[in-house]
Amino acid sequence: MRAKILDVRLGVSDEALREAATVLREGGLVVFPTETVYGLGANALDGKAVLRIFEAKGRPADNPLIVHVAEASGAKRVAFVSELGHLLMERFWPGPLTLVMPACPVVPTSVTAGLSTVAVRMPAQPVALELIRLAGVPVAAPSANLSGRPSPTDARAVEEDLGDRVEMILDGGPTQVGVESTVLDITGEKAALLRPGGVSIEALEEFLGYRPILPGAEEAVDRRSPGTRYRHYAPRVPLFLREDESVWEKVETWDPSQRAYVGIRSPGASFAFVHLFPDVESYARGLFSALRELERSGACVIVADWPGEARVGLALRDRLKRASGGSYMPE
Ligand code: TXA
Ligand code: MG
Repeated sequence: MRAKILDVRLGVSDEALREAATVLREGGLVVFPTETVYGLGANALDGKAVLRIFEAKGRPADNPLIVHVAEASGAKRVAFVSELGHLLMERFWPGPLTLVMPACPVVPTSVTAGLSTVAVRMPAQPVALELIRLAGVPVAAPSANLSGRPSPTDARAVEEDLGDRVEMILDGGPTQVGVESTVLDITGEKAALLRPGGVSIEALEEFLGYRPILPGAEEAVDRRSPGTRYRHYAPRVPLFLREDESVWEKVETWDPSQRAYVGIRSPGASFAFVHLFPDVESYARGLFSALRELERSGACVIVADWPGEARVGLALRDRLKRASGGSYMPE
């Protein structure tokens, strides 16, 4: 099977979206743009269709999926929404905030990976919203990459990974945010951050009136995202972080013509490929596509700048750390 690619960059024809919505309703897979990264979508209420997502990505079955809805009221079809849930939706939806809430029985166990909770979000992307609305069902969608690879922020990356594994790809151009949504568990007394992402912890803290429990914290032991256990976002060549003191020593062992650098500050050594971004938001937006592009251009080692924690910096640190094979616990 070769995916049908529909260009929706210059506005969306009703016909194209209706076709995509039909594919979803009939149990097929449609890749669609969101404001964060591209999603690999299936009807969230169709357990068989959802299993195809896991197959296509090579995703471990114990890693649950995010259910996408087109309006806040859609969340009630799949989750029990608390008062706090309603308030968070009102403030942050549509947008890159995923809420983990108690799941309704209609949600297949393939979506929740057998947990009693379900993750739900309403993306801030008109094509995504219209697609979900036309499909008339909630849409389960992980990032549209092969498991472990950098998340796709343009249609080319999707095609590279999944071009022969899905029915349809909607090409909406490069995504705006570039890192995935923030995942917030609101099932407990205090909200717990499971994955930093497009909505900053500062914004959440201001809204909640307290700092959510962070992934490394003692109180967080039983509130983890299964997905954060796995090696993720990794390019095929080694990636080293600039915060690592021995980085320059390690890089010296590669020929300068093979070295690549991504980041905000200029590198202190000689690199054949250099991707500089003006600020942390652009770094987040461009990181995943830069990693894929550097692989294609033949870089053999990548050094990545280490951004500050503010704004989207926390999410970026998390993705960089994982791409380098480590794991990042914010303080
Ligand atoms: O921005 C995004 O969130 C993108 C776009 C496509 O919406 N989606 C995305 O999905 O990043 P995925 O599958 O790559 O990451 C979902 C994360 C995983 O870490 C998973 O473990 C966690 O959310 N998750 C899903 N359901 C959960 C649940 N019930 N409890 C805890 N964590 C959950
Ligand atoms: Mg992912």
